[in-house]
Amino acid sequence: MKILVTDGHGVEHEVEATDGWTVMEMIRDAGLPIKAECGGSCVCATCHVLVDPDWFDKLPEKGEEEVDMLDLALEVFDNSRLSCQIEFEPSLDGLKVTLAPDAIM
Ligand code: FES
Repeated sequence: MKILVTDGHGVEHEVEATDGWTVMEMIRDAGLPIKAECGGSCVCATCHVLVDPDWFDKLPEKGEEEVDMLDLALEVFDNSRLSCQIEFEPSLDGLKVTLAPDAIM
């Protein structure tokens, strides 16, 4: 299984996906330059990603904490999510996200 992650230069990376891991953890472990300053505790908004529109509705809904924290992101779009709050499951195989500018190291 995999996810596809576009970096700040517009380059798409294929990242190996593991059931039960968060999208942020997989991006970080693949060595891509995501800040994720709080390490996944939903208190920083620096794991901000833009989800491909074809995938956005397939994700579990945002929780209250994620909604509150996204308010602190620099620029929020309709398809913005915090990648540490998206837990990977097999139905998300092929998920496409782009690192938001405020998430890039
Ligand atoms: S890593 Fe801090 S909110 Fe996701």
